[in-house]
Amino acid sequence: MIDNWIDLENECMKCTKCELCKTRTNVVFGVGNKNAEVFFIGEGPGENEDLQGEPFVGRGGKLLDKMLFSVDLSREKNIYIANIVKCRPPKNRDPKPEEQLACTDWLRNQFAIIKPKIVVCLGRIAAAKIIKPDIKITKEHGIFFEKGGVQMMAMLHPAAVLRDPRKKPEAFRDFQILREKIKEICNYTYSDDE
Ligand code: URA
Ligand code: SF4
Repeated sequence: MIDNWIDLENECMKCTKCELCKTRTNVVFGVGNKNAEVFFIGEGPGENEDLQGEPFVGRGGKLLDKMLFSVDLSREKNIYIANIVKCRPPKNRDPKPEEQLACTDWLRNQFAIIKPKIVVCLGRIAAAKIIKPDIKITKEHGIFFEKGGVQMMAMLHPAAVLRDPRKKPEAFRDFQILREKIKEICNYTYSDDE
């Protein structure tokens, strides 16, 4: 474990632990507030993320930012966002189990430094890796599971919501559920709080 954030990021940026290092443009380490109490975890960088070196910057990212904004959250302010794999799988294929295994040490180390109270997994791949292997995302999104003293929830992946806009209300509802949990266990204050 590396206990210093700068060292961790510098080491990760040089990583060659799996073959995704050969095809990446940028390592997408993560973005946000390192003191955040809420940690969002996606699957892996897509094309835009690979080019810009930041998670969730494409159309899905715009939608994610909108949903975050609806509950007073933002990557600039009060959350951290990273992915299961830090380098883009070619043609956006699912990251292979061995790639996920190679990369999760980085995520685990980020988690150990940030020590979030809440983890939100975006999409099935992240939820299966972090919450439980057999998670049924369509049924179990929006439900909190407790693991090692941390509250964890799966959400629909923003890209899935873009593909099927009828899912938007459910997706926004999950953010309301998140907001209630934040109010209950985090130190964040909301403008409409009593
Ligand atoms: N999808 C993800 O899971 N992560 C990103 O960073 C971008 C798209
Ligand atoms: Fe290293 Fe992860 Fe990139 Fe593989 S995906 S090279 S393990 S940073």
